Amino acid sequence: MPGTVSDRPTTMRAVVVKRYGSPEVALELKEVDRPGLTADGILVRVRAASVNRVDWYRMSGVPFLLRLPFDLRRPRSRLVLGTDFAGTVEAAGKDVTGFRPGDEVFGAAAGTLAEYVSIPASGAVALKPATLTFEAAAAVPLAALTALQGLRDKGQLQPGQKVLINGASGGVGTFAVQIAKALGGEVTAVCSTGNVEMARSLGADRVVDYNREDFTRSDLRYDLIFDNAGSRGWSECKRVLKPQARLVLVGAAKGSRLLGPLGHIVRMRLRSVPSSQKFIFSVTNLNKADMAALRDLLDAGQVRPEVERTFPLSQVSGALRYLGEGHAKGKIVITL
Ligand SMILES: NC(=O)c1ccc[n+]([C@@H]2O[C@H](COP(=O)([O-])OP(=O)(O)OC[C@H]3O[C@@H](n4cnc5c(N)ncnc54)[C@H](OP(=O)(O)O)[C@@H]3O)[C@@H](O)[C@H]2O)c1
Repeated sequence: MPGTVSDRPTTMRAVVVKRYGSPEVALELKEVDRPGLTADGILVRVRAASVNRVDWYRMSGVPFLLRLPFDLRRPRSRLVLGTDFAGTVEAAGKDVTGFRPGDEVFGAAAGTLAEYVSIPASGAVALKPATLTFEAAAAVPLAALTALQGLRDKGQLQPGQKVLINGASGGVGTFAVQIAKALGGEVTAVCSTGNVEMARSLGADRVVDYNREDFTRSDLRYDLIFDNAGSRGWSECKRVLKPQARLVLVGAAKGSRLLGPLGHIVRMRLRSVPSSQKFIFSVTNLNKADMAALRDLLDAGQVRPEVERTFPLSQVSGALRYLGEGHAKGKIVITL
């Protein structure tokens, strides 16, 4: 019967976390059950995925605080890693109207470092722009949603406003520079020496090399700081914020083994309380409307994914080791 998966194999290859630790000891590529198809969902044959910092946290079990939703001693039920995917719809549930088998899609769901992923048709999934390869499309979802929501919703960036992107050259940062430009911002990008040219090529109006210049000592004043590096404290950032400005934090350094980035977030929140400027920690919401908004930006050529390296599914450990070094240039993509 078309649209069903009953006659197809019931297992697939997936990258699971067998125990907490470094990529070499934690990860295993193994056969697991294929996800099922629900009436309102689609089953996607994954052609490319990408890795994010959240995969590193889930794999390492550090910070310990993040283990609580899973299990303190070992990950519950062999957790499949991955959030981003691009691929082809293998089957669609009987109530699904927006997708058909054969459609090329991209999106965000749980457990995408696997040959198949299932997602409700109403979830964070959209038709893939025809101009993008699966590899480029898989680089987009989580990082670009984080940038879009942080700048547009939490940051309320308006055309003509001055925005500084701290950490402009990684997965989130490369999208943030381009989305801030698309929203009409005047963009200052902060990155290391080797990434200055890339930040310019993404459209930044001004680039600060953090090895040579301290952006918190500049005479410029910003309406918004979008920070995914979390490398500076509140009082330093406040110096370059206009009186009614916002600082939107989405990420920080790995921090202590117990709290991880949470320590930095809490310090920023507490220290910002007496200020006229607003501190906001933004948690990304995976949703369909924003996947459609990203698709529009990609179709219009206002955003293009930067993919630094690709790894096959059998080498996810190498991809996560590289990501864990903290200096990826754009996104790291996994091919299947
Ligand atoms: N809140 C959420 O819901 C959410 C969602 C997604 C991601 N995140 C977080 O966002 C952060 C960034 O994620 P990502 O995927 O973009 O990571 P990534 O690809 O590893 O990029 C991190 C970037 O940080 C830059 N960096 C390192 N030290 C810096 C410093 N002192 N000053 C300025 N930039 C510095 C690096 O650029 P250089 O090589 O040029 O130093 C690197 O490109 C992570 O902490 C992640 O956990 C949060």
